[in-house]
Amino acid sequence: MYLQKLSLINFKNYGQTEISFSPKINCFIGQNGAGKTNLLDAIYYLSMCKSYLNPIDSQNVKYDEEFFVIQGDYLLKDKHENIYCGLKKNKKKQFKRNKKEYQKLSDHIGLLPVVMISPLDNSLILEGSDERRKFMDSVISQYNKEYLDNLIRYNRALVQRNKLLKDFYQTRTFEADSIDIWDEQLIVLGEKIHSERVKFVEELIPVFQDYYSRISGNNEKVQLVYDSQLYEGEFRNILKNAIEKDRIVQHTTVGIHKDDLILTLEKYPIKKAGSQGQQKTYLVSLKMAQFNFIKQISGLKPILLLDDVFDKFDRNRVRQIIELVAENHFGQIFITDTSQDRLETMLKEINIPHSLFTIESEGSIKINKAD
Ligand SMILES: Nc1ncnc2c1ncn2[C@@H]1O[C@H](COP(=O)(O)OP(=O)(O)OP(=O)(O)O)[C@@H](O)[C@H]1O
Ligand SMILES: [Mg+2]
Repeated sequence: MYLQKLSLINFKNYGQTEISFSPKINCFIGQNGAGKTNLLDAIYYLSMCKSYLNPIDSQNVKYDEEFFVIQGDYLLKDKHENIYCGLKKNKKKQFKRNKKEYQKLSDHIGLLPVVMISPLDNSLILEGSDERRKFMDSVISQYNKEYLDNLIRYNRALVQRNKLLKDFYQTRTFEADSIDIWDEQLIVLGEKIHSERVKFVEELIPVFQDYYSRISGNNEKVQLVYDSQLYEGEFRNILKNAIEKDRIVQHTTVGIHKDDLILTLEKYPIKKAGSQGQQKTYLVSLKMAQFNFIKQISGLKPILLLDDVFDKFDRNRVRQIIELVAENHFGQIFITDTSQDRLETMLKEINIPHSLFTIESEGSIKINKAD
């Protein structure tokens, strides 16, 4: 599966633009602000029906314009696919596959798998547990629609339970039966979500560790542990034991909404112990493990979007990464860099065919293909 042609109208800093790509490695070179990341974002958008960077759709329309269009021509299992996304400000966005509009965007997600590796990923290490749950959820939901559905229902039940706890506190009453209704839902859904997360992390760990040692080229030991209160016993009992506390703090203090991933380097938290390059290696390895995971389940090689991935890496690590992604088990790749020299020298050294696109000055959309 690969993207043959991308057409944009009024997407972020692009007016009208059309670019044809190589099925393997495509490099976008340009200065800060030229629009390299925006191109990756457009490609991400066509697969995931949303921007990786800005969840507010109307802000992705070019300033002073009313709409944007992103179109992609793909080759998928030897068949041509045209994917169209159109957004008019204040209107519902339209997504079409071969001119036929989707009723639900979720029907499209998964058709053209994609993995983005971006500087924003460092929120996985630096921010709270919410980011790490989002990571697990977004990967698992890409291939497991029931998981997403269970998660939405779990969160709804949680909101209702918390609302009851608040009401009881304010009115100085308590009805165990009313709480029980929500507990029953939390238990069934929470246990299913928990077991999917267990499976996902178990499969991810060895692949992740393998990538880490390949990129770092040394024996730094990294670990990833799924941390969940549901390991401590039956969810039913855990909820029961926490009810007194929940009543006082007026929300549900136990459950899969408290899950986390513990990320370590040599047994210490990567957030504190890792250098910037080590943290970045950690994230790239994690995302590449995600790539393998999606590939295995979908049977397709996801499109890999590498945004500014070489920043903070020493020469060896840059080389390792390029060598890795040039291997056959990766498919089409898009790489951005501000330095043409760094990237080209490396690609030539390893002797990998690639297409290079120079993106000139912000806003003006001149793209030169220099193979
Ligand atoms: N809705 C929009 N309309 C017009 N321009 C926009 C819009 N949103 C973002 N931009 C512009 O896009 C540019 C940023 O593009 P992008 O992030 O792709 O740059 P980049 O080439 O990746 O730069 P860097 O090397 O710094 O990462 C900025 O100049 C910004 O003003
Ligand atoms: Mg950028």
